[in-house]
Amino acid sequence: MLQDTFGRRFYYLRLSITDVCNFRCQYCLPDGYQCDHDRQFLSLPEIKKVAETFASLGTEKIRITGGEPSLRKDLPEIIQACKQTTGINQVAITTNGYKLPQHLPAWLDAGLDAINISIDSLDPKQFDLITGHNKLQTVLDGIDMALKAPQLTVKVNTVLMRGFNFSELDRFLAWIKDTPISLRFIELMQTGDNATFFEEHHVSGETIKEHLLANGWLACIKDKTAGPAQEFYHPEYAGKIGLIMPYSKDFCQTCNRLRISSLGKLHLCLFGEQGHELRHLLQEASIEEVAAEVTALLGNKKVSHYLQDRLTGATKHLSMLGG
Ligand code: GTP
Ligand code: 5AD
Ligand code: SF4
Repeated sequence: MLQDTFGRRFYYLRLSITDVCNFRCQYCLPDGYQCDHDRQFLSLPEIKKVAETFASLGTEKIRITGGEPSLRKDLPEIIQACKQTTGINQVAITTNGYKLPQHLPAWLDAGLDAINISIDSLDPKQFDLITGHNKLQTVLDGIDMALKAPQLTVKVNTVLMRGFNFSELDRFLAWIKDTPISLRFIELMQTGDNATFFEEHHVSGETIKEHLLANGWLACIKDKTAGPAQEFYHPEYAGKIGLIMPYSKDFCQTCNRLRISSLGKLHLCLFGEQGHELRHLLQEASIEEVAAEVTALLGNKKVSHYLQDRLTGATKHLSMLGG
């Protein structure tokens, strides 16, 4: 089992398979995707090696991320490869939902267990303004399809921003009154590229928490392995709320995940580091050798991401690493 010097255990891998995205979210890629490197993303055999290596170290869950993972044509094969790896019992993806109605059946056939879909506005015009695409209805149709798949855990991610969609908070809550969705509000994070935007639009998760508590929502007890979201429920609502508040002081204490970038680097944190090159080993070394390297590198994991100190390090935007 992978364990760091602070006693945190890592049974969860976030695997980015591309950094290309077709959306232009204001806080992430406002000018659209610009390629500044050779687009040699991890191949299927390299992805299998990653999955087998991490499984040998106790990883049980793989979340496939991007950029936008559905832009890779071999996504069903990637899901299947992860799912068929001994020891991996949950395969999830995080997507902007653009291709959901079209591709969900193939992903389910491949063995997908969980899906997180981003939706930053329930108003078509605002959705277009934030993402650069008039695709709200497509994403909502995809969510409806996902909710009908009994084997699938469905979560929705929303970044509330002052001046964009913060005024939709109650509309989002009304949406989950009768819809059994786990809706998570993610605090806008400052990255290398979005400092001015962050300054103008960041909404503290505490503000949202106060609103929930004042309106009958109750905090769920969080267990140590629960990951980043603090959850809330309401006796009259079918859905749940999760707050992802990376600026709160205890956030990193329950960190349970490591990341592999689409170019094959190990990232011990979403922020503050360049990543550790593993690609040559993925191509040439045995699973045992890659595993030994990952174990050694884990010794460098820091106690926190230092976001509070506005240290965003090498992370220019989250599509580089899939959040
Ligand atoms: P599940 O528990 O697997 O559903 O995962 P999740 O909530 O981490 O998945 P998702 O990909 O939907 O992540 C939501 C967002 O939360 C990410 O894109 C990030 O923006 C944020 N997040 C997740 N993990 C971390 C983390 O370790 N550090 C920070 N700062 N933010 C994170
Ligand atoms: N701050 C907070 N959330 C972000 N995401 C992307 N960039 C940021 C940021 N700077 C979110 C997306 C998506 C998830 C993968 O990460 O909205 O839901
Ligand atoms: Fe938006 Fe995600 Fe694409 Fe970034 S990677 S532009 S957050 S859909």
